[in-house]
Amino acid sequence: MNSVRSGLDPLSSDGKVYIFDTTLRDGEQTPGVALTPDEKVEIARQLDKLGVDVIEAGFPASSEGEFEGVRRVSSLGLRSRVAALARSVRGDVDRALAAGVDRIHVFIATSDVHLQYKLKMSREDALASAVDAVSYAKSHGVEVEFSAEDATRTDPEFLRTVFSEVAAAGADVLDIPDTVGVATPERIADLVRLTREAAPGKIISVHCHDDFGLAVANSVSGILAGAQQFHATINGIGERAGNASLEEAALVLKFLYGKNVGIKPELIYETSRLVARLTGIYPPPNKALVGDNAFGHESGIHVHGVLEMPSTYEPISPEVVGRKRFFVAGKHAGSHGIEAMLREYGIDVNEEQLRQIVREVKRLGDMGKTVTDADLLAIARSVLGRL
Ligand code: KIV
Ligand code: ZN
Repeated sequence: MNSVRSGLDPLSSDGKVYIFDTTLRDGEQTPGVALTPDEKVEIARQLDKLGVDVIEAGFPASSEGEFEGVRRVSSLGLRSRVAALARSVRGDVDRALAAGVDRIHVFIATSDVHLQYKLKMSREDALASAVDAVSYAKSHGVEVEFSAEDATRTDPEFLRTVFSEVAAAGADVLDIPDTVGVATPERIADLVRLTREAAPGKIISVHCHDDFGLAVANSVSGILAGAQQFHATINGIGERAGNASLEEAALVLKFLYGKNVGIKPELIYETSRLVARLTGIYPPPNKALVGDNAFGHESGIHVHGVLEMPSTYEPISPEVVGRKRFFVAGKHAGSHGIEAMLREYGIDVNEEQLRQIVREVKRLGDMGKTVTDADLLAIARSVLGRL
């Protein structure tokens, strides 16, 4: 029989926002991504270093390799809690228990569309399965989190009943999944309040998908409405358009709302790079915080501003998330930026040389060319050589 790992802080609702990272479970459901147990271990260690509260390591009932990955992560003795997904059936709960996790994440769909077409089950039967799986998991002494899959398209009165009954059956955490990303921030806030009324005293969580690009806004709204936990993935990877991006939701809550999210922001970039390298899914260049361009400046006006005072065009310093700013030469570049870039390479130029170099950079930019650092150096050399 498993029991909750000694040394875990008890769950509390004292203002701390819990981060439930599901990179290794929902994130791994990104089309084309499959992580080996060794890769799961490497990412889990990094997530633990980053400071997330819960690492959902996988879905042990889904394959032998998945079981092994979860078992290996559970046995690392991390500071973070380790969780595993289980459908609302005892066999899945047994697999998660055998993998040695601290928390079992039991779920069942509650919307009529899922009940009718996917599960082919009545509401009553789904409720009975959920209650049975939760009380069975709880009887083994682990933490239990329950998700009502497709909660945001579930009849609210049925959702209220489900949450109230699984709470009575022993669920410690009640999670509201926006499975197909159709919720709005207002709707998520309403559902958090509904869940609070249905199950007072329990930890409430939100799990938001990004089909309409609202996953981060919805997660933040859920927390502001009183949820104490949100689910997210590094770089926002996950099924279809992905899950809420952990780095964005965490830093919005920390820096724009002053919440205690308990992670080390300076490790965000290295965590993002590790996940990108092991999954092969790289964030687009304009992705907030972790995209290649997030701290790059091209326009001469911006570069001039940043050189005078970085906060003119940087909402946070790049070092906060473990990055460095950079300037790009292109048709929008100005002399201040080009001069600063050259200085980084130890090249000092006089006014006339700088004027010629900027003119050549803009000429290339106007031809639709990207001016790389190597191009800039070549231009500088030719101008300096010519003079
Ligand atoms: O999106 C979803 O509904 C899920 C559940 C398993 C929580 O990932
Ligand atoms: Zn999901």
